[in-house]
Amino acid sequence: MTKRIVIAGAGHAAGQVIATLKQRKYAGKIVLVGNEAHLPYQRPPLSKKFLAGSLAAERLHFKPKSFYDDPQIELHLNTCAAYVDRDGKALITNRGDTVAYDKLVLALGSRARKLSLPGANLEGVHYLRTIADVESIRAEFANAKHVLIVGAGYIGLEVAAVMRQLGLEVTVVEMADRVMSRVVSAEISDFYQIEHTNQGVKLRLSTSIAGFVGESRVTAVKTTDGDDIPTDFVIVGIGIIPNTELGTDADLDVDDGIVVNDQCQTSDPNIYAVGDCTSHPNAIYDRLLRLESVHNALEQAKTAASNICGKETHYSQVPWFWSDQFDLKLQIAGLSAGYDEVVIRGNPADRSFACLYLRNGRLIATDAVNAPRDFVHSKMLIASHAKIDREKLADINTPLKELVK
Ligand code: APR
Repeated sequence: MTKRIVIAGAGHAAGQVIATLKQRKYAGKIVLVGNEAHLPYQRPPLSKKFLAGSLAAERLHFKPKSFYDDPQIELHLNTCAAYVDRDGKALITNRGDTVAYDKLVLALGSRARKLSLPGANLEGVHYLRTIADVESIRAEFANAKHVLIVGAGYIGLEVAAVMRQLGLEVTVVEMADRVMSRVVSAEISDFYQIEHTNQGVKLRLSTSIAGFVGESRVTAVKTTDGDDIPTDFVIVGIGIIPNTELGTDADLDVDDGIVVNDQCQTSDPNIYAVGDCTSHPNAIYDRLLRLESVHNALEQAKTAASNICGKETHYSQVPWFWSDQFDLKLQIAGLSAGYDEVVIRGNPADRSFACLYLRNGRLIATDAVNAPRDFVHSKMLIASHAKIDREKLADINTPLKELVK
């Protein structure tokens, strides 16, 4: 019988684990151990409305404080989970506390990848992953005219859009030859490059950073081409690293992420893992995936909590992601890696279109720009695994819904 569930990590996924445990009337103790000062909050608005100042910090919270004011829940915030003693079934914290568990859920998330270059520790060089990060970035606005962003991925481009809207001069330096190359095809990259350029963002593609210039504070960024680009501050968005160390140290199976089965159970049946820190099987793509996705974090959290409560639940989902830049909503259904054909639906000039990716005649992914219906129906088409008529896919007068068998 599970009397005590300990959750390591207090992000979005951890909040959902608690919500599902409550929903399933779990009656034992829930202990939450998180290294930030905050209760679980949503990260996606950090690089969007929260950065822009149009969303208050309280609105980020996954659940109100009253949700946690419950004798069943014990909170250990500002506390790092340091070690898992599997034999003793206990989590050891950096404060030296030993927190016993019947079931442990690792909801450890990921952290911003850091640049280790000369000057990287200068004042004015920021990363964006937490509320505290955004608060220190916002403190820069009052005195700044120019921001330099390293990385043209989700974070870099969302931040570029917000900063332009706030009236700053924005330069983005990206080492790849196109934007968002990790997640979208060249067709979508081209569209976003034009949009950002039209909005006044200076994009420097195929450019690497050699270091940061300044005495105590950054004043310029040095590129490997030998240029110094003057700036008032810098934001680095060059990807994330999953927090898997706790799993590795505990000798759990780790393969990029902490390996779990479709019930979110690790190689130790008393330990579950959810969210960005996991590698999990996906039946649609027939391989292990590690996803940086809110949807995945929430769904895995529901799966783990349900299984712990004795309700056997198997995780099987079409992955999806989104990004807001200016007035453009990019919604991505599925994973396009390995596609052999792309179909464009609609006209990019209308600022509402979709790229549909096929492999062996089956839809595997869709990038939809201001095309929410195509996004929703694509998820169904991907899950159906059906062979699809390309001409109908391309015809905007045929709703994709009609192609779902
Ligand atoms: N110099 C310039 N660009 C770089 C460098 C570098 N040294 N290293 C990496 N990049 C570029 C990559 O080529 C890529 O285009 O940085 C970009 C990082 O993009 P993402 O992988 O999308 O990562 P990021 O934008 O940091 O977003 C991380 O946060 O929005 C959430 O979960 C979401 O997965 C996303 C995560």
